[in-house]
Amino acid sequence: MNIIYHSHSFVEIEIKDGSILIDPFITWNPTIKTNLNSILNKKILSIILTHGHNDHIWDTFKICKKTNCILISTFEISNYFWNEKWLTNLHAMHIGWEFNFGNYIVKFVYATHGWWVADMKSWYTTNPAWIIIRTEEKNIYHAWDTWLTQEMLLLSKYDSIDLAFLPIWWNFTMWIKDAIIATKDFIKPKKVIPIHYNTWNIIKANPKEFIKGVWNIWQIIEIWDSITL
Ligand code: NI
Ligand code: MN
Repeated sequence: MNIIYHSHSFVEIEIKDGSILIDPFITWNPTIKTNLNSILNKKILSIILTHGHNDHIWDTFKICKKTNCILISTFEISNYFWNEKWLTNLHAMHIGWEFNFGNYIVKFVYATHGWWVADMKSWYTTNPAWIIIRTEEKNIYHAWDTWLTQEMLLLSKYDSIDLAFLPIWWNFTMWIKDAIIATKDFIKPKKVIPIHYNTWNIIKANPKEFIKGVWNIWQIIEIWDSITL
């Protein structure tokens, strides 16, 4: 499988029959290296959302509408898209559950972050989640917006993680020091990609500090990269 980190919160996992998109944020993303049209021209299997903030769900409606891919998210986010956006190809899950979509399994894990869904007019809230995606070959862990929590310790009991995406920004979620602890002590992935930084000034971080912290222990993949697992 091929994994593309499109910047900020947006990851694409290419498996044999198409692409899985996690938190697609293209429009208004100042660091994006692709565009909506090139995403729409791909075979999109599904979009998975970790939580309801705009920098994670922004382009979801357009992509779902155009490709009719399945939207996988929490019960409340699914209800938002069902009731407010009239999307119908939805799969609602929640924390703790895992579901087999054929060539991949998705599991939602508890995260600590904000609950608000979408725009200011929306009254929907939801539990934010991390996600684990299992394919026949690999386990991928996607932590997005969360602080370091002891729930991360549980991961190594259930899964051996081949690749983890961990935020290293500050102000809103965990930052470099926390991400080093998450990598070394909690999740213990084989590879790790630092994410969710330098999109705006408020989330400035130096990935080299993170790399220094886990150097010689884990294989790090730099930002803007793609990897074949
Ligand atoms: Ni957020
Ligand atoms: Mn975010």
